Amino acid sequence: MSLLKRIERKQDRGKAKQSSGSGKKPPSGGNKKNQNSSKLQDLRVKRSSPASASRDSYADLKGRIQQRLILEMDPSVDVTKTADMKSTIQGLFESMLVEEQIVLTKSEKKKLFDQIVAEILGFGPIEQFLKSGVGEIMVNGPKHIFIEHGGRIVRAPVEFEDNDHVMRIIDRIVAPLGRRIDESSPTVDARLPDGSRVNAVIPPIALDGPSLTIRVFSSKPITIDNLIQWGSVTPEAAEFLKAVVVSHNNIVVAGGTGSGKTTLLNVLSSFIPEGERIVTIENAAELQMHQEHVVRLESRPPNVEGRGEVSIRDLVINALRMRPDRIVVGECRGGEAMDMLQAMNTGHEGSMTTAHANTPRDTLSRIETMCMMSGMDLPIRAIREQVASAVDFIVQQARLRDGSRKVTSISEIQGMEGEVITMSEIFRFEQTGLEDGKVIGRLRPTGLRPKCMAKIQEAGIMLPPSIFGIGGQRGRH
Ligand SMILES: Nc1ncnc2c1ncn2[C@@H]1O[C@H](COP(=O)(O)OP(=O)(O)OP(=O)(O)O)[C@@H](O)[C@H]1O
Ligand SMILES: [Mg+2]
Repeated sequence: MSLLKRIERKQDRGKAKQSSGSGKKPPSGGNKKNQNSSKLQDLRVKRSSPASASRDSYADLKGRIQQRLILEMDPSVDVTKTADMKSTIQGLFESMLVEEQIVLTKSEKKKLFDQIVAEILGFGPIEQFLKSGVGEIMVNGPKHIFIEHGGRIVRAPVEFEDNDHVMRIIDRIVAPLGRRIDESSPTVDARLPDGSRVNAVIPPIALDGPSLTIRVFSSKPITIDNLIQWGSVTPEAAEFLKAVVVSHNNIVVAGGTGSGKTTLLNVLSSFIPEGERIVTIENAAELQMHQEHVVRLESRPPNVEGRGEVSIRDLVINALRMRPDRIVVGECRGGEAMDMLQAMNTGHEGSMTTAHANTPRDTLSRIETMCMMSGMDLPIRAIREQVASAVDFIVQQARLRDGSRKVTSISEIQGMEGEVITMSEIFRFEQTGLEDGKVIGRLRPTGLRPKCMAKIQEAGIMLPPSIFGIGGQRGRH
């Protein structure tokens, strides 16, 4: 017999008991409400289709058990002890099923239990995606949930009940972090205990209900071997990038939203040799440095009174007093770019950051614009000279049409010619076709020998010219 049939039969039995007045003592104060909601439920079930009746009955059962669990649980219980909480819930859940004479199969019972635990202790319907290899979870109001899996964005087969349900989950995320979200402050950036990055926007700013975006943190960091294996970068380009990092070149990783900039920055940072003092600066700590000599700094938004903000820029300025060998800034979005350039130019060679831009040329204009945001009244030519002498490489990352993420260009800054910054592309992604919607192509050397070769050799690294497609190797697969 289906779960729906059994639930409905149980509801009928319950109604018969209530009308004959022979019911047991009400288990909780929520009983009257339950009777009312079950009456409403009956009306709804009569009018709606069998499929939606099934959904409603299941939601009703889940809601009822959940409500009773919350009411019956000892309020003094320590909710941070998840394992203890789970076993308390398990005990109450089992006895409730027996008491209400609800018979479920093993898998139905597990599904219901997992969902209830997710509601009480976790993040409700989206909890299941946090540990399932999904890259991003996007909630556009209660009924439209999307996930990104393997580069593809698909509609998730789950829903929240209503706006309040989404709000409860958002509150659960931000409250333990001392952050708040309400009408007067309707956006928040936060991080889950596992490191996942969260952004929430609620009405009146979000017009179709509370919206939530979670970049799920992967506890196993992506490595250069992964990037090579997935075809995001070739072994030759990877070898070159490693040499570029070790020999203290300044790098800007550029790309669009979600193109894999932070991931690539993390991989490039992993090439920094042990023993160098690294200071990392981020809005929400995403970098996973494996070196020992690391100081990690995180910016802080203003508090409720609008005070206490520590910006990325404050942290870059502070980092200069910490005697770092390298400064790694998660992302430059504004005036901090100017301080970053100065750091790159003044003894912290080998520093790195990321910027939002779609081509290496765009990245240069973006950096110029960010420098103008610093409030330092410098003529554009002076800014350009700073950029040209500070930045050595722009590594362009992109999310391609098929959802794959790849390095599409490695460009070296050469200097200035008149008013223009000159660059040469050392590697460029060349698309050769499209097969079953999959982009076919390869990051190829352009045949140019990089200017930084002397620096690389000084660092004791010998790269064969074939890496750059010099000596008849260009086009090799
Ligand atoms: N080369 C890659 N291949 C497959 N997946 C990748 C690759 N690089 C990154 N990802 C995944 O893509 C998602 C976005 O990556 P990441 O956070 O690095 O992007 P981003 O450009 O920094 O995003 P944002 O603009 O939001 O800061 C993550 O889930 C990450 O695990
Ligand atoms: Mg990022």
